[in-house]
Amino acid sequence: MSLLIDPVQITPGMWLLPSFASSAQLLPEIDQIISTAPLRQMQTQRGFTMSVAMTNCGEVGWTSDRRGYRYSETDPETGAKWPAMPVSLKNLATDAAKTVGFDGFEPDACLINQYKPGAQMGAHQDRNERSFEHPIVSVSLGITARFFVLGEENRGPSKSVDLNDGDVIVFGGEARRHFHGVRKLKASTHPIVGDTRWNLTFRVAQ
Ligand code: SIN
Ligand code: FE2
Repeated sequence: MSLLIDPVQITPGMWLLPSFASSAQLLPEIDQIISTAPLRQMQTQRGFTMSVAMTNCGEVGWTSDRRGYRYSETDPETGAKWPAMPVSLKNLATDAAKTVGFDGFEPDACLINQYKPGAQMGAHQDRNERSFEHPIVSVSLGITARFFVLGEENRGPSKSVDLNDGDVIVFGGEARRHFHGVRKLKASTHPIVGDTRWNLTFRVAQ
C-alpha cells in the first residue's frame, strides 16, 4: 500500500484510489483461496451463465443460482465453509475505506471475480447485504477494465473510469446503491497477472 494516495472522486460517495493495492502481494492469497473454493461460473435466476468466474472468502459468500442471489455460509459446490478472509485482504479493505473517511469498515464477505477477455458485468446494484450503511471496497488487479456507474436507477447518463492493476474503488453513502457494471473486457496482457483481470469486492453482508 502506498502512503501517497490521492483519492479521486468519481461521483459523490464514490472514490478511486489509484494503485492502492499490489497484485504481486494479493495473487498468492487468491491462488490459495481458489485451491479450496474453486472458481465457477454461476447461473442467474433466469438461467444465464455469468461470463465472470467467481468464488468467495469470508464468513459468508455471495452466490447465484436458479433460486436467485444470496449470501451463504457454505460453498454450494463443496458444502464446506468458505475459506477465511486473509488478514492482509481484510486490512487492505479497512485501510482503503478509512482513506476516504469510512472508519471501522470490517468486511465479512469478499467476492472474488475473475474476468477473462470478453467477460463483462451488466449494470446492477449491490443490494443483497443486510444494511447499506457500510461502503463497498472493490479492488482491481491485472488487465484494465472500463467500469461504469449510473445513479439509483438503471438508466440515464453513466460515468466511466478505467480500472488498472492495483486500483481500488470505495463507494458508500449516496453512491452505495448506485447501479454499476463493467464493460466487456478487451484482450490484453499484464506482466504479472497475464490475460486476466481480478476484482475483489469486500462487503459487510450480515
Ligand atoms: C462488482 O460490481 O461486483 C464487480 C465490479 C468490478 O468487477 O469492478
Ligand atoms: Fe457490484
